[in-house]
Amino acid sequence: MPVLTPDNRVVAIDGPAGSGKSTVARAVAARLGTAYLDTGAMYRAVAFVAMRSGVDPEDAELVGRLAAGMTLEVSDRVVVNGVDATIEVRSPEVTRAVSVVAANPRVREELVRRQREWAVEHSGGVVEGRDIGSVVFPGAAVKVYLTASDEERAVRRSQEMLEMHYDEVAADIARRDHADSTRAHAPLTVAEDAVLVDTTSRSIDQVVQLVLELVAEAGLA
Ligand code: DC
Repeated sequence: MPVLTPDNRVVAIDGPAGSGKSTVARAVAARLGTAYLDTGAMYRAVAFVAMRSGVDPEDAELVGRLAAGMTLEVSDRVVVNGVDATIEVRSPEVTRAVSVVAANPRVREELVRRQREWAVEHSGGVVEGRDIGSVVFPGAAVKVYLTASDEERAVRRSQEMLEMHYDEVAADIARRDHADSTRAHAPLTVAEDAVLVDTTSRSIDQVVQLVLELVAEAGLA
C-alpha cells in the first residue's frame, strides 16, 4: 500500500468556467465528508483586495506583494484581510479583473503555496481550479477535468449572473477561456492522467456519481 500523503489524498477537479466544477466539487466533498477548497475564490480575493486598495490589477509587483501579505480564509465564506468578501468576489468587476491577477506568477506562487498548506492541514480534500491536477497536486489520487460546450457553459453562468445578459456572459467566458489557456504560467490544460468528463448533457448527479466511482477505485473512500 502506498503511504497516503496530503498530496495523494486530494481529489482534483479542474475545468473552465461553467463546466460544473463548483457544484460537482462541493457535492463530492459533502458525500465524502471531506474538506473542499475553491481556488478560483482565492484568485478572486486577490483581485478584490487590489481593487479595494486602489491598486491597478495590472501592477504585477504591487499585486504580488498584496497577495503575499494578505490574510485569507476560503470556506463557505471568503474572508480577506478580515473583510467578508463572499458576495463581492463574484461581482462582474472582480470577474473582469481576475484573469490578469491569475496570470501574475508571484500571485500564483503564493496561492499554490497556500493551497498545498491547506491540503496538509486538512489531510487532503476536494480541490477545484484550473491547474490543480497539473501543477498544484500532480500526485493527486483522482484528477477530473470537466468540460461542457461553450453554449451550455454560457447558459449556466448567465443563470448565476442575473445582472448580466447572455451575450455579455458568453463574451466574458470566451475572453477568460482565452486568457486562462494562453497565459505563460500554469495555463489551463488537461493533466495527462486526468479523466476528461463532458458535462454538457449529463446531470449533476451523474457527474458526481462518476467522480465518486473514481474516488472509490483510487481507494480514497
Ligand atoms: O473558477 P473561477 O471562475 O472562480 O476562477 C476565477 C479565475 O481564477 C479564472 O479566471 C481562472 C483563475 N484560476 C486559476 O488561474 N487557477 C486556479 N486554480 C483557479 C482559478
